[in-house]
Amino acid sequence: MAILLTVAALTFAATSTWATLFTDPALLPNGKAYDYIVIGSGPGGSTVAARLSEDPSTNVLLIEAGPTGKDAQQIQVPALVPDIQSGSPYDWNYTIVPQPGLNSRALPYSRGKVLGGCSAINWMFWVRCPQDDYDKIADITGDEGWSWTSMLPFWQKVERLVPPVDGRDTTGEVDPTIHGTQGAVNITVPNVRFPTDEPVIGAAMEVGGDFQFIEDYNTGNPLGLAWLQGSTGNGIRNDAATAYLGPALSRPNLDVLAETQVTKLIQTGISLEGKPAFRGVEFAQSSSSPRYFRNANREVIVSTGAINTPQLLMLSGIGPSSHLASLGILTIVDLPDVGQHLADHPVITLVYNVSEPRDDVFTNLNRNETYADEALREWETNRSGIMTNAANSQLAFFRLPANDSIFETVPDPSSGPTAPHLEFIPLPGLFPFLGIPPTGYYLLTAVVVETPTSRGNITLSSADPFTYPIINPNLLGSPFDMAAARYAIRATDRYMSASAWDGFTTGPTPGLGITGVDLSSDAEVDAYAREHALTLWHPTSTARMGACGGGDGSVVDPDLRVKGVEGLRVVDASVFPFVPAGHPQAMIYAFAERAAELIQSGHRACELL
Ligand SMILES: Cc1cc2nc3c(=O)[nH]c(=O)nc-3n(C[C@H](O)[C@H](O)[C@H](O)COP(=O)(O)OP(=O)(O)OC[C@H]3O[C@@H](n4cnc5c(N)ncnc54)[C@H](O)[C@@H]3O)c2cc1C
Ligand SMILES: *[C@@H]1O[C@H](CO)[C@@H](O)[C@H](O)[C@H]1NC(C)=O
Ligand SMILES: *[C@@H]1O[C@H](CO)[C@@H](O)[C@H](O)[C@H]1NC(C)=O
Ligand SMILES: *[C@@H]1O[C@H](CO)[C@@H](O)[C@H](O)[C@H]1NC(C)=O
Ligand SMILES: *[C@@H]1O[C@H](CO)[C@@H](O)[C@H](O)[C@H]1NC(C)=O
Ligand SMILES: *[C@@H]1O[C@H](CO)[C@@H](O)[C@H](O)[C@H]1NC(C)=O
Ligand SMILES: *[C@@H]1O[C@H](CO)[C@@H](O)[C@H](O)[C@H]1NC(C)=O
Ligand SMILES: *[C@@H]1O[C@H](CO)[C@@H](O)[C@H](O)[C@H]1NC(C)=O
Repeated sequence: MAILLTVAALTFAATSTWATLFTDPALLPNGKAYDYIVIGSGPGGSTVAARLSEDPSTNVLLIEAGPTGKDAQQIQVPALVPDIQSGSPYDWNYTIVPQPGLNSRALPYSRGKVLGGCSAINWMFWVRCPQDDYDKIADITGDEGWSWTSMLPFWQKVERLVPPVDGRDTTGEVDPTIHGTQGAVNITVPNVRFPTDEPVIGAAMEVGGDFQFIEDYNTGNPLGLAWLQGSTGNGIRNDAATAYLGPALSRPNLDVLAETQVTKLIQTGISLEGKPAFRGVEFAQSSSSPRYFRNANREVIVSTGAINTPQLLMLSGIGPSSHLASLGILTIVDLPDVGQHLADHPVITLVYNVSEPRDDVFTNLNRNETYADEALREWETNRSGIMTNAANSQLAFFRLPANDSIFETVPDPSSGPTAPHLEFIPLPGLFPFLGIPPTGYYLLTAVVVETPTSRGNITLSSADPFTYPIINPNLLGSPFDMAAARYAIRATDRYMSASAWDGFTTGPTPGLGITGVDLSSDAEVDAYAREHALTLWHPTSTARMGACGGGDGSVVDPDLRVKGVEGLRVVDASVFPFVPAGHPQAMIYAFAERAAELIQSGHRACELL
């Protein structure tokens, strides 16, 4: 009992703070005037709501479709992350359309539907992404404020580097001098050792090159193999709800309404410059339940993520007019790029057999109840043991060589020399959603195309807000993506052939690995990639940011205001002009921190028309 109380107290500051957390729209304080209404509680929305409510004279309402997830052990315990993908109580359970690049396979597409959004169910990789990505966004938008150097101070607000639970000396595993120490989100290097650590690092030392060991991948130049930094602290997941909303919930000027979906943004007037103002929101708990309405005095901030943000804009008459017309939705603002430019990271898995059962942590957790119970008990009692670790402890970022033949026909899509085209991730075991064979023990390796050139889209299938949108990330949909995947598969084979793996692995797993694949044949490697590719769940760019003015295919301006609309901003992964070459959550938190400052200061990058 004492243990459960501790968990609750760690999760949210104190029980009394839950007074401002509603799960029924009928109970929202009646006459309260909100200055800002923030929709969605992921890294975008929670960060903005928490920062705006620091001013006690500003009233903020945050609306989240999912449940609170309060006290959910699956969310809190890092190593339980494989259990909370699609099909959990905290997921939208989307499916993407059959993918031409994946032999027409349709895949489940995990998206968090819970306070914290995807950060409450994600794999906790903490990656700032390369310097050149920020600088390219600054170039595209004409706003130097988004550049790597300008954004550096925000890490002090976002990050708090804390020691791992095993208390070891972490010298050489992370560069503490570059990290925030007082920010909202705790981050750590792996909390305890995994059996794979020694061969992973050993093989990096041996192979070098693409896999050369580096101390810290968050310096702006991530190229090389390094220890993972994860969004955990004291053995517990940190997500947007626990890190940002939890501490803010005691404020009387912040109300959070969970289990309620915003169904439409409502036009409330016309600005002096003749733009429609969208400061109203309509929300409901289900398709059959009553609709509620609230207006924001100042602004509505849409942070519903790269899938639901374009959906909500289109449902509200903001989007491609011909598409909206086909569903009987009246276009109020014709913005052809809403829902377009969807980019995502394809990931290809290559499984290897391991000789010692103890080296496969995750198969053991899934197959051996005694082992899993003991590990969970250790987490509950002492906040120690393997349950405090996320699912992997290292990653590597690398580039296609400049002489790769793909560059004869395709220009380099990366933002610059610090940006990886590829990523490699080793994981100690297999996971239920990948299918664990009934016998045998495994090592999972995964390669990711970080700079895909293929683009998909989000479209509506209906004008009903409770009907799911059509999601097409177009994975492995371009010659560049295939060439990158091909190089990464061959690089993985090189790395896994290092003598550091002798005795640890016995070779690729039939059916799940490159057994029988002739690696010198492009056709065979491509066929393997198409059959084994999945998504890394990093959709972005469906309401992308551009420069002031029109005609550049963007949806929001450099201040993240929706173009042609007054009183409406987007702050989430949809605004990235391209998918960052890394895992996006850290960058979203940092962008949201700056967005909060832009909102508070009334900054106008673009002249009033
Ligand atoms: C399985 C998985 C693993 C991942 N692993 C990593 C990782 O290891 N590292 C990393 O950096 N990134 C990872 N990501 C990606 C990262 O978590 C997301 O990019 C990030 O959370 C996106 O933040 P966001 O604010 O844009 O939106 P989200 O986090 O998606 O939050 C949007 C919120 O809005 C809510 N919402 C949607 N529609 C409505 C509506 N109409 N009304 C009210 N609320 C609504 C949703 O329920 C959700 O809570 C992963 C994602 C997934 C799904
Ligand atoms: C997703 O599936 C799980 C398991 O069936 C369920 O509990 C959850 O409610 C589903 N999510 C939604 C949004 O329907
Ligand atoms: C982050 O770690 C600090 C220091 O250990 C702790 O006080 C704080 O509660 C943690 N934050 C979260 C959200 O867990
Ligand atoms: C299951 O785990 C327990 C506890 O760690 C261990 O003693 C036992 O040998 C394991 N059983 C198998 C079949 O691996
Ligand atoms: C917790 O830690 C104590 C002290 O190290 C140890 O004696 C105990 O066995 C641990 N409990 C569990 C469940 O691992
Ligand atoms: C690219 O250069 C490397 C080393 O300089 C060489 O080993 C490799 O064969 C070259 N590849 C191609 C496709 O020319
Ligand atoms: C890998 O394990 C599978 C069974 O799990 C077995 O059929 C196969 O022969 C093994 N391969 C190697 C190379 O060890
Ligand atoms: C979305 O993409 C599909 C597949 O490329 C295409 O057929 C469709 O026209 C696109 N929809 C819109 C509205 O752009």
